[in-house]
Amino acid sequence: MSEHPKNPARRSLFKILGGATAAGTLGSLLPGCGKEDKPARDTLTFSEIPHGLDHQHHLPPGYQSTVLLSWGDPLHEEETAFQPEELDADGQTRRFGYNNDFIAFMPLTAESSSTQGHRHMQSENSERGLLCVNHEYTQPHLMFSGYSDDYSATREVSAEHVAIEQAACGHSIVEIKQGAQGWQVVADSPYNRRITATTAMEIIGPAAGDKRLQTQRDPSGTQVLGTLGNCAGGKTPWGTVLIAEEGFGAAFQGDPQKLADAREIDNHQRFGITAENRNWGDHDRRFDIQVEPNEPNRFGWMVEFDPYNPQSKPRKLTSLGRFEHEGFTLVCKPGQPLVAYGGDDDEHQFVYRYVSQGRYQPEDPAANRQLLTAGTLYAARFADDGSGEWLPLVHGLGPLNTENGFRNQADVMIDARRAAAMLGATPMDRPEDVETNPHNDCTYVMLTKNKQRSDTDSANPRARNTAGHVLEIAPPGENGNRDHTSSHFQWQQFLLGGNPNAENPAERGAYGQQSPYAISAHGWFANPDNVAFDRNGNMWIATDGCERFGFHDGLWAMATEGPLRAAPKHFFGCPQGAEVCGPEFTPDGKTLFVAVQHPADSRNSTYDQPLHRWPDNNPLLPPRPSVLAIYREDKQIVGS
Ligand code: FEO
Ligand code: CA
Ligand code: CA
Repeated sequence: MSEHPKNPARRSLFKILGGATAAGTLGSLLPGCGKEDKPARDTLTFSEIPHGLDHQHHLPPGYQSTVLLSWGDPLHEEETAFQPEELDADGQTRRFGYNNDFIAFMPLTAESSSTQGHRHMQSENSERGLLCVNHEYTQPHLMFSGYSDDYSATREVSAEHVAIEQAACGHSIVEIKQGAQGWQVVADSPYNRRITATTAMEIIGPAAGDKRLQTQRDPSGTQVLGTLGNCAGGKTPWGTVLIAEEGFGAAFQGDPQKLADAREIDNHQRFGITAENRNWGDHDRRFDIQVEPNEPNRFGWMVEFDPYNPQSKPRKLTSLGRFEHEGFTLVCKPGQPLVAYGGDDDEHQFVYRYVSQGRYQPEDPAANRQLLTAGTLYAARFADDGSGEWLPLVHGLGPLNTENGFRNQADVMIDARRAAAMLGATPMDRPEDVETNPHNDCTYVMLTKNKQRSDTDSANPRARNTAGHVLEIAPPGENGNRDHTSSHFQWQQFLLGGNPNAENPAERGAYGQQSPYAISAHGWFANPDNVAFDRNGNMWIATDGCERFGFHDGLWAMATEGPLRAAPKHFFGCPQGAEVCGPEFTPDGKTLFVAVQHPADSRNSTYDQPLHRWPDNNPLLPPRPSVLAIYREDKQIVGS
C-alpha cells in the first residue's frame, strides 16, 4: 500500500521510485501478468495530445472523426431531421436516445440472416455492422427549454417531458456501413430499433416469478416494461448484447420507511430510493414505491437482447444478480464453462464473476443461449498478500440462509449486495468495467473513485480516493491460457490514477512498472471508467472525472506487457462537461467508436443557455450526446 502509515519501508521505496509502488505494482514476487520477457514492440506510436479543456473534441495528428449519431437523429427513413422543439415521446422512440454510453459493434455478414448471430460475429466484417448503443439517463435541463440545472427542478418536469425521457433512455440498434464518405447510418435498415424504459421484456433465471418481482400489473413476476440506467455492457460470441442496469434508483420515488416489509425498506435504501427523488412516479405510477413496492426489484439486472432479430424480446438475466451493474464481459473458451466478470458501480460495492453450468460450444448457439441462465455468481475477496478468492452466492452456503433473511436463491440474487457483504467480499472503490485482455488472459478492474473511504486495504489503498485505480487479476495458469473458473486468483495493482507528481503523496498517481517516468506530462489521468483492448493487447481507458483535475475527460492507451506496461499515452479529449464512454474497435482495428456523454453538463449550463453546442455548433440545436467514429487518415490500425 503506497500510503499505509504503518509501513515506513514501503513509503521510502515509494520516494525512490517516484511513484511506482503498492502491493504488487513492483510485481517481482507475484506470478502474474506483465511478465513477458520479450522486448516489447511499441504498438502505440500515435503522437500524444495534450491535456486541455475547451468546447471541442481532440484527436492526435493524422486522425479524423465522423459524428455518426447524435441525440434526436432519425433511425428510420420517414423521420425528418431533428428539431428539438418538435420532439414528442412517440417521435423519440424512432430517434437516437440521450446520453450514449456502452457501444457494441456487431458485424453483419454480406449474406445476412436474422437467425445466425454467431455467423455474423464470426465474419468479423468491419465494413458493415449494427452499432448497439446504451442511453444511460436523461437530463431535462439540457433536453428541454425552461428548466434550471438545480436538481430540484427535475421534480417539476411535465408529463409530456417525462414520457420523452422514458423514450430517450435504454438502447439504440442502428445499422451502419462504410461508404465513399466513410461510416454512414443505414436509415432504411430493418434492424434499426429502439429499446426504451417501456419496452416489454421477460425476466428469466432463479428470481423469475418470485413474489418479490410480482406487481399489480404483472402477477407472474416475469414480464417487465423497460430497462433503465443502461451504463456499460458486453457482447456474446453467439451474437447477443448484454446491457447493464446501473443507477435505476433515481427514477423511483416514494419513502421506503413507509413500507410494511423491513426487508424492502433496507433493499430500496441501498439503491438510493428516497422520498426526495424525482417525479417519474407522478406521471407513471409504477415508479412510485408507495403504489408498486416491488417495481424496483424488476430493475438492477443485466439485460440480454438479440440485435440480429428485431422481433426478439429482451430478457433480464437474474442469474447475474441485482445491483448497480456497470456491465458484464465474457471469457468464452471452447469446451469450457463460460465466465463473465462485472462490477457494481457504487462506493464500497463488489467485483463479481459468473461461471456457467454448461460449456461453451462455438457451433451450438442454441445451447450457448442457456449459458447465462444457469450458473453460479461469485463476489471477490482480495487478500492483502496478493491472493484472492471467489465467494459463491448460493442459497444454503455459509450465511446465505433463512435465518439471515434469504428464503431461496431468488432472495440471494435480488439482495446480491447484502449476500456478498455477508460472505466477506471486499468493498471496493466503485468497480466499473471489468474486462479480460485476450492477449495475456488477465482481467482488469476499473475502480473509478471512492471519496467515502476511510479504512484502506491493499486492493483499495487510498483513503478518500479521488482519482481511482486499476487492479489486475491473474487466474491460475500461464499468460494467454488461464483458468478463469478457478476459485482462486492472484492480483496486483496495475496503476493508481492521479498526478504522479502531486505534492501530497496520498494523491500521487503511480504508472509504469520498470519505467516510472515513461509517461509524459499528458500521460496521466484520473477516474478510469470504461476499458477496451485493441488487436495488439493494448489497454484503452475511458475516464469520467478528469475535469476536477483541470483537464478534459478522454482516452488513454497503454501496454499491459513489457517495459511500457501501464505507461499511458493520451489519445482523445472530450468537449467540456462530457465524459467519454464506449470505446469499441471494429474487428480490423481500423475504426474506434467512442460515446461522448453529457457534453456541456457544467454548472449553470442549460438547454436555454448551454455552455456550448457541441458537436453541431448550431444556434438551433442544444449540445447533443454523440457517437464518433475515429479513424486514421491513411486507413491503418488505430493507435499504431
Ligand atoms: Fe454509469 Fe458506472 O458509470
Ligand atoms: Ca460507466
Ligand atoms: Ca461513468
